[in-house]
Amino acid sequence: MACFSFITYASIYERHSHIHALASHHHSVVVAIAMEAEAAPLIQHLSLKLNPQFFSPKSPFLAYQGTHESCNLTVITNGKDAVHGTGVDNVGTIPAALATYLALEKLDAQEETKVDLLINAGTCGGFKAMGAEIGDVFLTTAVANHDRRIPIPGFTGYGIGKVNSTSVEKLAGEINAKLGVCTTGNSLDAHDVDHLHMGENEASVKDMEIAAIAWSCELHQTPHFGLKVVTDIVDGDRATQEEFMENLGTAAKSLQEALPKVIEYICGRSHDEL
Ligand code: ADE
Repeated sequence: MACFSFITYASIYERHSHIHALASHHHSVVVAIAMEAEAAPLIQHLSLKLNPQFFSPKSPFLAYQGTHESCNLTVITNGKDAVHGTGVDNVGTIPAALATYLALEKLDAQEETKVDLLINAGTCGGFKAMGAEIGDVFLTTAVANHDRRIPIPGFTGYGIGKVNSTSVEKLAGEINAKLGVCTTGNSLDAHDVDHLHMGENEASVKDMEIAAIAWSCELHQTPHFGLKVVTDIVDGDRATQEEFMENLGTAAKSLQEALPKVIEYICGRSHDEL
């Protein structure tokens, strides 16, 4: 009997110290990427496999899973539009928030798959006034919305919805990335009122998803940050769509180089080491 209790205590101690070691290091990592073409090189590079059971068949979202060193990785993409019959990628805040929420809810349901970190990767517009250039890689320090204008007492801050990203300064130095705020809106282009609010958000880069993704992460208390590659200059004199199409190839290459380095760096490291 005495021997049995000794074994029990020893195994409990061992189990707890094991859990502690896992909890302090990145073990389960989600990479949320809006467009299929942006995600394809990473999926291929890490030999991730499509998990057709991950999301409900009603949703357009896709999940690819696999392991890299000590990390379990899940790459989620927003799939293609069937609702409006266009067949294009589901870009923008609604699919981004929903896909992130569903993925975190599913993975957090079990202790072994609980998500330690979520990275939102993709392209963005850059502000030359903040030092951004085409092809630059940015890691986010915070995110906010610029197109949710609600000038009613108490609602202004909700509309802006500013959320701090997990601190990744060492990682930025390691991969030669710039740091800055990403401002989110549901339009690729920007009008005067957008410029006013993007300026108030002190944005270095602009995208169409990250503030929504951060919101879902906050609900799950999941640490998160964005890795964004600049395809166009928001405060330049060229039409965004024209510059975006021209530089998508170069930016995709930067993303392809940066993402595996980021995964390599974060897997097995704790938040303090980022
Ligand atoms: N993705 C790439 N360029 C962008 C821009 N200018 N605005 C929003 N999302 C983008």
